[in-house]
Amino acid sequence: MSLERINEILKTYSNAGRDKLIPLLQDVQAEQGFLSKESVQVIGRHLGLPASKIFGVATFYNQFRFEPMGQFHIQVCRGTACHVKGSLPILESIQKELEIQPGRTSKDGVFSLEVVACIGACGLAPVIAVNGEFHARLESDQVAGIIESYRKKAV
Ligand code: FES
Repeated sequence: MSLERINEILKTYSNAGRDKLIPLLQDVQAEQGFLSKESVQVIGRHLGLPASKIFGVATFYNQFRFEPMGQFHIQVCRGTACHVKGSLPILESIQKELEIQPGRTSKDGVFSLEVVACIGACGLAPVIAVNGEFHARLESDQVAGIIESYRKKAV
């Protein structure tokens, strides 16, 4: 996202105080897909907050990302139905397979991982979505095969 676009967003927050930090970060992330270091610095100057403080606040909320999304974005549902049906071991298998934590992108840029609340497919629990494509009633021993199938499609 260009600096120009960030400045356009900031204009809609003229005279904004620190209480507007979260909505501002949400707007920038919605445009950019993540919060770049540069955008955090610009937001900091606008609100009179050090970038370190903004990173501290943003890290507290699971919704913010600091890296671009991977070619394949994996969303693991951790809503109640999926939790009851075993979404945690699935999440752990994905983390192990990709060697990344939620909110991060793999070094090769192929995969990114996000934990989400109910994605509206409880009947399919436990479920993950990869670029919006659902994988239903998963068992953790299926994870490696699913990841491999996407890895083969990576460009
Ligand atoms: S709890 Fe996972 S889809 Fe609803």
